[in-house]
Amino acid sequence: MVEAPEDNPYVRDPDTSFAPVEEIEEETAREQVRDLRAAIEYHDYRYYVVNDPVVADRTYDALFDRLAELEEAFDLHDENSPTRRVGGEPLDELETVAHVAPLLSLQSAGDADEIRAFDRRIRETVGEVTYSAEPKFDGFSVEVVYEDSAFERAVTRGDGQEGEDVSANVRTIGSVPLHLDGAPDVLAVRGEVYMPRSGFVDLNERRMERGEEPFANPRNAAAGTVRLLDPSTVADRPLDVFFYDVIETSADLDSQREAFDLLRGLGFRVNDETTDVGDVEAVIDYRDRLMAERDDLEYEIDGVVAKVVDFAKRERLGSTARHPRWAFAYKFPPRTGETAVERIVVQVGRTGKLTPVALLDPVDLQGVTISRATLHNAAQVDDLGVHEGATVRIERAGDVIPEVVEVVADADADRAAGDFAMPDTCPVCDGDVVREGEHHYCTNASCPAQLRRSLQHFCSRDAMDIEGVGAAAADQLVEAGLVESLADLYTLDAADLAALDGWGERSAENLLAELEASKAVDLGTFVYALGIRHVGTERARALAAAFSLDELLDASVEALRDVEDVGPEVAASVASYFDTEANVETVERLLEAGVDPERRDRDDELDGLTVVFTGSVPGYTRSELTELLETHGANVTSSVSGATDYLVVGENPGQRKRERADEEGVETLGLAAFEERILSRL
Ligand code: IVH
Repeated sequence: MVEAPEDNPYVRDPDTSFAPVEEIEEETAREQVRDLRAAIEYHDYRYYVVNDPVVADRTYDALFDRLAELEEAFDLHDENSPTRRVGGEPLDELETVAHVAPLLSLQSAGDADEIRAFDRRIRETVGEVTYSAEPKFDGFSVEVVYEDSAFERAVTRGDGQEGEDVSANVRTIGSVPLHLDGAPDVLAVRGEVYMPRSGFVDLNERRMERGEEPFANPRNAAAGTVRLLDPSTVADRPLDVFFYDVIETSADLDSQREAFDLLRGLGFRVNDETTDVGDVEAVIDYRDRLMAERDDLEYEIDGVVAKVVDFAKRERLGSTARHPRWAFAYKFPPRTGETAVERIVVQVGRTGKLTPVALLDPVDLQGVTISRATLHNAAQVDDLGVHEGATVRIERAGDVIPEVVEVVADADADRAAGDFAMPDTCPVCDGDVVREGEHHYCTNASCPAQLRRSLQHFCSRDAMDIEGVGAAAADQLVEAGLVESLADLYTLDAADLAALDGWGERSAENLLAELEASKAVDLGTFVYALGIRHVGTERARALAAAFSLDELLDASVEALRDVEDVGPEVAASVASYFDTEANVETVERLLEAGVDPERRDRDDELDGLTVVFTGSVPGYTRSELTELLETHGANVTSSVSGATDYLVVGENPGQRKRERADEEGVETLGLAAFEERILSRL
C-alpha cells in the first residue's frame, strides 16, 4: 500500500476555492503545482489501483483543472505530470528502443501431462519447488522503465530484444505510477496491458455509432490502441494493466513473492488471483478453477502461468534463448468444435450491416451450445468455400460471437463457393443495400433492425438533445410500436407514453416538452442526428456549411466530395442515404412535424477573437470556458497584449491583467457584458 503524501493540502478534504492565477507569485505557483501533482498521483492510485478513492470525482476534477491552469499560466510543463494522462501531441512514428534485458516468452502446453513433464524437468534440476500461479492475461506485453523513481519509458515486446517506444500512450493509463516513493535506483518492470471487457463493449458501441468497424476482441483492441500515434485517442480508450515481473532492479529480491511485494508496495497494479501453490497438481487445479471462472472476470485470460518462486532455483534452471526454464504456461483449450451448416442466412445488425450467418447443427463448446456462427461478410463465405451441408470448424474467442474458421469436410464439393450472394435489398425492410469494401449495409435509417440505435442517436446530447430517450426508452418506444420511423417521435401522444412501463404523466409531459424544444435546431446538428454512416459532428457541420438541406437532399457524389474532409467513401454514404426513399420521407415528415433546421455557420461565431480571462466565471471552470470559446473559433490566451480583443473580468479578478488592459487599450467586459456579447452568440 502506498502512503498518502505527507503535509499535502490536496489529499484529504481539499479546499478547491483557488486564488486567481494572476494573483499568485511564481514561487507559490511552483509549490502548488508540486503539491497538486503529488496529491493527484495519490488520488489516481486510490482510484485506479486500490479502487477506494479518497475524494469525490468533482473534487478530483477541480484539482486537475487547477493544475492544468497553473502549468499553462506559469509554463510549468512536465512529461510526467498527471495532466499528461489526457494525452500529449501526436507522434509521427514510434521509435525503436532496446529493452533493458531480453523480454522472453513462455513455454506452453494445453495438456496436463505435458505440464507434469515441465514440472518433472524442473524438479530433476532443483528438487521440490513452490510455484507462483497466475492468470495468463490475453493482452499486450510492455516493459516499463523507471529512472530516479520517475516513469522513463514504456516499450512494446517487439522481437524480445527491442520494441517500440509507447511511453506517451502508457502514461495515459491511470493505474501506471508516474513517480515511485522509496523505489530502488534501477527498476524495470513488465506487465500486460489489456482492455476490460465492459470498456471493450462500450468502445465498440461508440465505434459503430461513428460508422467505424468494431474490434474483433479485447486483445486486438488493446494491441491496436497501445500502438496508436495519438495519445489523446489512447486516453479516451479504456486500457488497464497488470504487472507481473520485475525485469531488472538494484533491490535485493530472493523470490517472486518479494517481487510482488515490491511491486504492490510501490503502487503497481497486481492481479488478485495470483497465489503460491505447492506442486504441479495444485497448478492443474488452479487452471481448472480459472477456466471455469474465466467468463466472470473483467479481463480475458487464455491460461495460467506457473513460475518457480525461489530466485536461487531460477538461477540454477536458467533460460534458453527464447524462454526461461523456470516457468511455463498451461493454456486453456481453444473453444472450437466441428458441426454441419444447415443454412446460411443474412442478419442485419444495429449499424445496418448485413452479415452472413451460418445456422448450425447445435454443438457443445465447453458447456455452451452453439447453433449459429458468423461468416463476417460475403468475401469470407467465398474464401472459406462454406455452403449449406458442409462440415465446418467453429471457434469462440473470448466474448465474441463464434465464427466459422474453416471447412473440414465437404460431402458436396462441387457446390462449393459461388453459391452464396448478398441480397440487393435489406432482408428486414427491403431498403436499398450498398456495398462498402467487403461489407454491405442497409441504407434505411428507419429499418426496424437499426431503429433503436438510430433513435437513441437522434436523441443524444450532441444530436437533437432530447433528454429521456436512452437505450431503455428507445427499446420501449420501438417495442410498443409507438415509433416506427424517427419522425414518429414528434407525433407521440402523452397518454400512450404515460401507459408505458415505468412511465407516468410527468415523464410523458417531460418528453413532449423536450421534443418541442428540440425543433429549433441548427442544420449541422440535424444532419448529424440523422445518423448517416461516417458523418460525425464535424463532417455534419461541414456539410451544413456547404449546402442547404434542399441542396443536400440532391447533392451529387462529386459535389459532396468538394466538402472538406469528405472522401469518396463518405460522399457515397451521404448520397446513398438521401437516395433512399424511406430516408427522404423521414426528413420530410420531420420538417412537417415542425423540426426547423436553420442554416447558420455555427462555431465560427467567434472566429479571430482573442480573449483573456481574469477571475472566475460562475458555473464554469477555466478549462471549460477555454474549450467552449475555442470550439467556436476564439483564441483564449493567458496574458493581455495588443492582440487581445477583450479582457473578461470575472469574480475575484487579478490586478495585473487589468492594468495591462488599460495600458494596451484593450476593452474589458464584466460578467454581464461577457454573457451578452459573447456567451449569447454561441
Ligand atoms: S511472465 C519470462 N506472467 O504471455 C517470463 N507472462 O509468452 C515472462 N503473459 O508475452 C512472462 N500473463 O506477455 C508472464 N502472468 C503472466 C503473464 C504473462 C500473460 C504473457 C506475456 C508473454 C506471453 C507468454
